[in-house]
Amino acid sequence: MPSAEHTILRELLAHPEKWVSGTALAAKLGVSRVAVWQHMEKLRAAGFTFEAQRSHGYRIAARPATLFGPLIELEQRVRPRGFSLIVLESVDSTNDEAARQLAAGRATPFAVLARRQTKGRGRFGRTWHSDSPANLYASFAFHPRVEPERMQTFTLWMGVNVCALLEKFTGLAPGIKWPNDILFDGRKAGGMLTEARIDADRIRDLVFGLGLNVNSPAGGWPADLAKRAVSLAEITGAPLDLNRLAAALVGRVLLAFQTFADGEHLKTFADLWHRHDVLRGKTISLLEGGRRHAGTVQGLDDEGALLLRDSHGKVHRFRAGEVTLEKAAS
Ligand code: BTN
Repeated sequence: MPSAEHTILRELLAHPEKWVSGTALAAKLGVSRVAVWQHMEKLRAAGFTFEAQRSHGYRIAARPATLFGPLIELEQRVRPRGFSLIVLESVDSTNDEAARQLAAGRATPFAVLARRQTKGRGRFGRTWHSDSPANLYASFAFHPRVEPERMQTFTLWMGVNVCALLEKFTGLAPGIKWPNDILFDGRKAGGMLTEARIDADRIRDLVFGLGLNVNSPAGGWPADLAKRAVSLAEITGAPLDLNRLAAALVGRVLLAFQTFADGEHLKTFADLWHRHDVLRGKTISLLEGGRRHAGTVQGLDDEGALLLRDSHGKVHRFRAGEVTLEKAAS
């Protein structure tokens, strides 16, 4: 059942320009006007500002700058049956929390979002800098009926969907750097970490983690990241509505999962990949298993492996690795 705050928000968001009277809200909730006022105090504490007029009632003047679960749920257009959303103040890692929830038997699909992570994780056991509630830390749990070999294409498919959504939301041109980096202007704004538990040759469950630098200010990065990381707001020059973006992303990821599970993603994957791929035709070096390989990127094969042509013209295939773009000769 929705909370009283949820119901109040729904009424206020239904016609944002109109006033909603305290009496109408009290009648809707079956509580006193004082109780309505107390619920609105809770919404204020979550970051809302309201205009209040004795004769007219209330309307929303400003929305929270940080994640607020009821608002995300109200803004979410895509909501498959059985979906649930968890929004936490702080957690070690949203991927780890999703794994714990799966182990405890929570029904999928569900998403775990947090305002902060104390042990945010990236690929290769790296730390994902996660102490700003202006950014997004999200994990999605699924029970896919697909073979483990398709995991690689799953992350790539999710990546292009995140790019497509960000392009629509910001009007900017996001890029994807194989296999899991989201870039703006050559700097990293997001990363993905897909983790699965595998039984015999089937995926038992799968967690897709996404970290996205949304509104953190320039200069907010630790020294080692300062040159490589960027937030969307640094590029757009103005803060984005984090809750609206979160709702749109949750919807897009849920739809993308369904398309993937149905095997329908192959119809659009190649086009989307070409649109956002930042590596094709570029000279790179790829670190894999302690060895460095240099070459020019030819694209991807059907399994999502990177194809790299070496200086002798031979094409090599890599299923994993870390790519560094070489500077173009001037
Ligand atoms: C990478 O670029 O190396 C992947 C970064 C993935 C970070 C996200 S933040 C939400 C989720 N929880 C984690 O601990 N990691 C992922």
